[in-house]
Amino acid sequence: MDTRRITGQTKIMLLMADPVSHVVGTEAITAFIRASGHDFICVPVHVGAQHLAAAIDALRGFRNCVGSGVTIPHKIPVLPLLDELTARARTIGSVNYIRRDPDGKLTGDNVDGSGFVRGAAEAGIELGGLRVLLLGAGGAGRSVAFALAEAGVAELVISNRNQGKALALVSSVSAAYPGVRVRIGDTDASGFDMVVNATSLGMAGKDDGDPVDLATLSSDMIVADIVMRPEKTRLLQAAEDKGCRLLFGRQMMDGQLALAQAFLGLT
Ligand SMILES: NC(=O)c1ccc[n+]([C@@H]2O[C@H](COP(=O)([O-])OP(=O)(O)OC[C@H]3O[C@@H](n4cnc5c(N)ncnc54)[C@H](OP(=O)(O)O)[C@@H]3O)[C@@H](O)[C@H]2O)c1
Repeated sequence: MDTRRITGQTKIMLLMADPVSHVVGTEAITAFIRASGHDFICVPVHVGAQHLAAAIDALRGFRNCVGSGVTIPHKIPVLPLLDELTARARTIGSVNYIRRDPDGKLTGDNVDGSGFVRGAAEAGIELGGLRVLLLGAGGAGRSVAFALAEAGVAELVISNRNQGKALALVSSVSAAYPGVRVRIGDTDASGFDMVVNATSLGMAGKDDGDPVDLATLSSDMIVADIVMRPEKTRLLQAAEDKGCRLLFGRQMMDGQLALAQAFLGLT
């Protein structure tokens, strides 16, 4: 399909972000959904916090839009602006995809964490039974935490700069998944099977330190970083140097594509 042909027949998905310059997922989702025969394009839109409510209301009236992605900083503030949330989005407390039904009704879902689990499975990583150290309890961290518990990890240890957020996440994941040992931790990775960075530390242009004590990584670990730019973060480089198995942010994003397509009703 010729991606230069955007017409009145084209189904449009927006992706609302602020800032918008770091957004790379629009190309991947456009290519993925077009590959299954849909006349579709995903367009990044730079929406500031003060205009989010107006943008969401406009989306209700945009009849050739199938929905919108939402990313930093809108994933949580968008919750009360929507008509409905999936059970998963309600539990996680944030949204990364909105579906617009033909009558304008807007429903929010969050497939960040499920995309992480799917990306791991596609890389041949079996998460069941692993002891996992998760760094980060922000929007993406919350989503990954619930998805790891759902995937049957044996132990989930959560570390976050703001401890209150880590404690709140520990308590909600334990309540939802009583079979998983969930507790708060620090940045020492010793003894874990897998380390997952779900903080924004390591993002291009940021030099705020490492999410985990790199000296505590060892060759038997799987090290995942959900940061997408740079592709190989300082954490992943250090993990590679130690001989660890790596999982990239891009694999998490790719893992979300089919889930987003199904949610948007474009299968
Ligand atoms: N690969 C993918 O498909 C995918 C999907 C979603 C997000 N992401 C990436 O994941 C990262 C996090 O996104 P998000 O939506 O969760 O953002 P967020 O809600 O703003 O959370 C940011 C997280 O990073 C921590 N953090 C930020 N600066 C820090 C610092 N200087 N020291 C220690 N911790 C710090 C925060 O800790 P506090 O709570 O203490 O502030 C929080 O845990 C971003 O890089 C985003 O691009 C990737």
